[in-house]
Amino acid sequence: MRVKVAPSLLAADFSRLRDEVKRVEEHGADWIHLDVMDGHFVPSITVGPIVAKSLRPHTGLFMDAHLMVEHPERHVAAFAGAGVDLITVQAEATPHLDGLLRLIRSEGAKAGVALNPSTPPHVLEYVWPLLDLILVMSVNPGAGGQEFIPAVLPKINCLASRARREGLEVEIQVDGGVNRHTAPQIVEAGATVLVAGSAVFKDAGGMELIGEMKKLGTRDTG
Ligand code: DX5
Ligand code: ZN
Repeated sequence: MRVKVAPSLLAADFSRLRDEVKRVEEHGADWIHLDVMDGHFVPSITVGPIVAKSLRPHTGLFMDAHLMVEHPERHVAAFAGAGVDLITVQAEATPHLDGLLRLIRSEGAKAGVALNPSTPPHVLEYVWPLLDLILVMSVNPGAGGQEFIPAVLPKINCLASRARREGLEVEIQVDGGVNRHTAPQIVEAGATVLVAGSAVFKDAGGMELIGEMKKLGTRDTG
């Protein structure tokens, strides 16, 4: 299976977001990753559904919204209404994961769960059938430009292996510190979608990196 690349707009130039989306689209990006922070679940504040809605008419790319917010259930309808294709919630932000995933799907979006580096994979044990995506955080959420935490590699492998073994159609997305040096081992562990912010928008040769990462092949870890 080919790896998909989802540039994170967090590292883009916010004064010209529409152009930034066009630029990554022209360089072969598969998805657009929108990082939503509320100043509570994480200290920073970024963007809300209004930004997703403004970008929607300007790109045909699949858009995923990564909600790093408290009370995510309050925002699901607004993001789905804004036209995002997939909504990811942090497992740590809700005691009602099953209900929340059902809510996301009932609003017409695909559903994802993000796991912080310290969150074990077994929190997903009883919700696998409700998942379109699992996001393995490879930094602590809250900011771009952090260093990849290699301790999450076995977690990626564990989740990817199970998905393959059971024939489940779930994307394994990895987010945080993904760059030309870390991407090969992340894909080797079983990731199917790579999120990259700084490496794409800030590093030299970042746009070309999109194509390079797309060429990384996934290994059958099942
Ligand atoms: C972190 C965000 C990431 C972040 C990745 O809280 O979820 O999407 O933007 O940024 P880089 O690629 O710079 O680590
Ligand atoms: Zn993210």
